[in-house]
Amino acid sequence: MKISPFKLERYFAKYEFKSPYLLSSSDCESFSIQELLNLEENSRDKFFDHWLGYTESEGDPELRTEIANLYSTLSKDEIFCFAGAQEGIFVFLNTLLDKNDHIIVQFPAYQSLYEIEKAMGCEVSLWKLDEKLQWGLNLDFLHKNLRDNTKAIIINLPHNPTGMTISSEKLSQIVEFAQKNDLYLFVDEVYRYLEYQEMDRLPAIADIYSKGISLGVMSKAFGLAGLRIGWVATKDMALLAQMRAFKDYTTICNSAPSEFLAKIALKNKSKILQRNLNIINANLQLLDSFFIKYKQLFEWIRPKAGSIGFVKIKFDQNVTDFCLDLVEKQGVLLLPSPLYEFDEKHFRIGFGRKNMPEALTRLEQYVKENFNIGEK
Ligand SMILES: Cc1ncc(COP(=O)(O)O)c(C=O)c1O
Repeated sequence: MKISPFKLERYFAKYEFKSPYLLSSSDCESFSIQELLNLEENSRDKFFDHWLGYTESEGDPELRTEIANLYSTLSKDEIFCFAGAQEGIFVFLNTLLDKNDHIIVQFPAYQSLYEIEKAMGCEVSLWKLDEKLQWGLNLDFLHKNLRDNTKAIIINLPHNPTGMTISSEKLSQIVEFAQKNDLYLFVDEVYRYLEYQEMDRLPAIADIYSKGISLGVMSKAFGLAGLRIGWVATKDMALLAQMRAFKDYTTICNSAPSEFLAKIALKNKSKILQRNLNIINANLQLLDSFFIKYKQLFEWIRPKAGSIGFVKIKFDQNVTDFCLDLVEKQGVLLLPSPLYEFDEKHFRIGFGRKNMPEALTRLEQYVKENFNIGEK
């Protein structure tokens, strides 16, 4: 397979480990191994004794049981683990799709959600969010773009990069449409559990639709990206069996220490999620004040969930130049919207990290030095 470079990941590869102030990361504040082990009594000895042989390809049964607890109707047999969410996306798409299949994908999007299909020779319709509707999704698009060869709809809720989500009524309408037309519905739910209001949390698609596939991961809400533990959840056992066969050609099985640590994290999920939501909520308040103060320069559609938002610039400059100058002068990393193949007027901002206030102070310093703007 020949595939186009993943723009956002290439940009991160260049700047992430050199920039002192990451103001665009999508994962929440992480933990050290020590901090995780401290969450469970006697875990230190067990960790040192943990066997480092191959693990079960589906994922450790106990880990899958903990993951299944994140859903209301699923058992461990309906969970299949991968090395991060990225492998889950890759294996799912390669398993489900054939050349010339048609697929509808929400846009803007994390690039692998549509690029893999393009590389496979599929027809891809991008279902654009409407900024005027606070990044809303218009369901007419589905009706207008359905084709005889449409096989699946791919959405990401809560959404990267806007932090939008939809109502459960709207999700039900999408499910109804998928059901009526016998489509798979893959929902990238990696930011699930980071809803600011619990009532905004949608049911997981795997719980409510037989051809629904939920994608989850330890990276985002749990802040444990370095574990590289992700999963898909679905009641479609035939699809799971096919994915299992495909994984034999990718990673075969998970890392044993990661499975051990992921289990501890999931057993202590309330503490971890509350800690991360507290960081997000405190950071959001600072961002609200910042964007009010500099409303002549930026347009802020406040996210409803997750650790990232998509900000529009109102000044007459292309956003890539702005972001490059900012990282050079203040060491603050933002992601310009061309990385999403979107436009030249938005950037992604991240607020799941503890040092976000320092990064924001640097951004403000830059704004004061480079824009002739009064603090009105
Ligand atoms: C929407 C979305 N899906 C999948 C991924 C991949 O997650 P991971 O790095 O854990 O594989 C990301 C990472 O940024 C993401 O934002």
